[in-house]
Amino acid sequence: MSSTGSSLPFPMPREAMPRHVAMIMDGNGRWAKLKGRPRVFGHRYGAERVREIVEQAGQWGISVLTLYAFSDENWGRPIDEVGVIMHLIEHYLRKERQELNRQNVRFRVIGDSSRFSPALRKLIDETREMLADNTGLILNVALSYGGRAEITRATKAIAEKVARGEILADDISQKIIAEHLDTAGLPDPDLVIRTSGESRISNFLLWQAAYAEFYFTPVLWPDFSRHEFAKALEDFYSRERRFGLTGAQARSVTAADFLVVQGQTPC
Ligand code: FPP
Repeated sequence: MSSTGSSLPFPMPREAMPRHVAMIMDGNGRWAKLKGRPRVFGHRYGAERVREIVEQAGQWGISVLTLYAFSDENWGRPIDEVGVIMHLIEHYLRKERQELNRQNVRFRVIGDSSRFSPALRKLIDETREMLADNTGLILNVALSYGGRAEITRATKAIAEKVARGEILADDISQKIIAEHLDTAGLPDPDLVIRTSGESRISNFLLWQAAYAEFYFTPVLWPDFSRHEFAKALEDFYSRERRFGLTGAQARSVTAADFLVVQGQTPC
């Protein structure tokens, strides 16, 4: 058994590590309220946690970490709060990209980029390019993201190809749909973590999370430490993933075999 070689407080073989972990970072507002501070105080501490969790994911050999930073619906929040979250994301990218580079991290964003400010779009493009040759963790930030909107965009793109005669309607497959989603080329999430005690998917990776394991914790995002992350992985390791098969069948089929059936390739 090859161990993960880092600080996991329980033995877990490297091959059992989820390739893609996706996180719904929830509870910043309630965390601030508990401390008698404004909501934006919680977002600031939330951004600090992002640093720690990204570094740890890379050290544990996770291939993709998707963070739900801002949903389509979040645009409806008070304008000041939207401004602070956008500022925090810009500040994070400006301040952290050298460090992300040192950690061999690649960078990607999913969501409706047409709603970003030109400055944020430029910063995202620059960061992606700067980190493009790295080979470690892919940090995938969901920004202005909604699963239904993503599927709608993909459907339109496919319909346009059919209208132009580039593909036949009959050729549309799950693989083709996946290739038109914002996550094209990434493996589906194996584990989705949501903090703050809410047990909802909230329009996150609706297509991609079809066979993900879900881990809900009452811990609020600003308190979601490496230790809490490790607890989620330990729980994931105890699950039997069946992919719709019987228990006996699933034990003889690896997750990699299943990916081939689904037409996915390792990243
Ligand atoms: C959910 O908590 C959190 C958000 C909508 C924003 C998440 C943003 C960050 C952590 C900032 C930085 C992100 C990056 C990638 C650097 P909530 O406000 O819904 O909390 P509540 O449910 O307690 O009100």
